[in-house]
Amino acid sequence: MIAADDINISRVKNSKLKEVNLENIPFGKYFTDHMLEVDYENGEWKTPEIKPYQPLMIDPSLAALHYGQAIFEGIKAYKSPSGEAFVFRPLDNFKRFNISAERMQMPTIPEHIFIDGLRALINLDRDWIPSQEDHSLYIRPFMFSTDELIGVKPSEKYKFMIILSPTGPYYNTPMRIYVEEQYVRAVPGGVGYAKAAGNYGAAMYATAQAKLKGYDQVLWTDAYEHKYVQECGTMNVFFIIGDKAITPDLGAGTILAGVTRDSVMTMLKELGLTIEERSLSVDEIIDAHKAGLLHEVFGTGTAATISMIKELRYKDYVMEFDVDNLKIAPAVKSRLNHIRYGTAPDNYGWMVKI
Ligand code: COI
Repeated sequence: MIAADDINISRVKNSKLKEVNLENIPFGKYFTDHMLEVDYENGEWKTPEIKPYQPLMIDPSLAALHYGQAIFEGIKAYKSPSGEAFVFRPLDNFKRFNISAERMQMPTIPEHIFIDGLRALINLDRDWIPSQEDHSLYIRPFMFSTDELIGVKPSEKYKFMIILSPTGPYYNTPMRIYVEEQYVRAVPGGVGYAKAAGNYGAAMYATAQAKLKGYDQVLWTDAYEHKYVQECGTMNVFFIIGDKAITPDLGAGTILAGVTRDSVMTMLKELGLTIEERSLSVDEIIDAHKAGLLHEVFGTGTAATISMIKELRYKDYVMEFDVDNLKIAPAVKSRLNHIRYGTAPDNYGWMVKI
């Protein structure tokens, strides 16, 4: 833990918790009593502060608003049956945060600020962790440039913050997915592997177009040929073909290295499936479907957890899945949930106790 003199803590006088029903709570709508804030100036991180959750005062010339040096992470905290608080794989998100920071020409954040700050904040707001199934406390660390200057250059000042949001499922129902062939999320050499805020803004137009056609999200394809699948909306994607689980590989730097993706691969191995991380073409997916070998498609992500896909559409070719009778995705979800909620042993050291 951060030593008391390494962090300034000011507590709320009255908690807002009694105003919030922690059951059936929508994703990302409510925030806990406190937030963590720390500034980077003159080449160093200042003393972190935990203070009552409140709006920020910003200058209209704030660099992040103009040129988009902004990155974030998503992590979740869970409550065990005995009421203890655990965070799922925060060190992996910490490492990915700094990979994103480097790509966006931002300063990296030291582990003692990210991890110990997160622990101190959750410790203070631990009563906000929901205990209902599929609910958790979503942790949102983020960093943005704060120079007050509209010249285009890497900012000299930054702000790192963590906010917490008690939350229910991100996608409530099985999804309909549209294979995108016109718009592009990421190209080799670009920022697809970084959790850069702009990646999400840039996806919104294509997603809105898919929604007009009745779909929930797009499945991105490669920028050159629109032939190979990448990721799906805010999730990584898995295809169960025959007795194999196939997911696009990270090699081209166009896909986010999901922490849930990695955890799901471990669960799939436990279930006896062969995992293949490799290029996967839409043609191969369709051929497998025609041969009756494409059994399941599902998305994985911190917010999304494991999201069932009931329809995948490529041009006029529609692939439908009987989501009430899936075998693999529900089994993986259940195994992961048992580890997260502390009802099965954590054999991989994923859960960090607060
Ligand atoms: C997450 O899964 O944590 C994400 O960041 C996806 C989305 C909520 C932006």
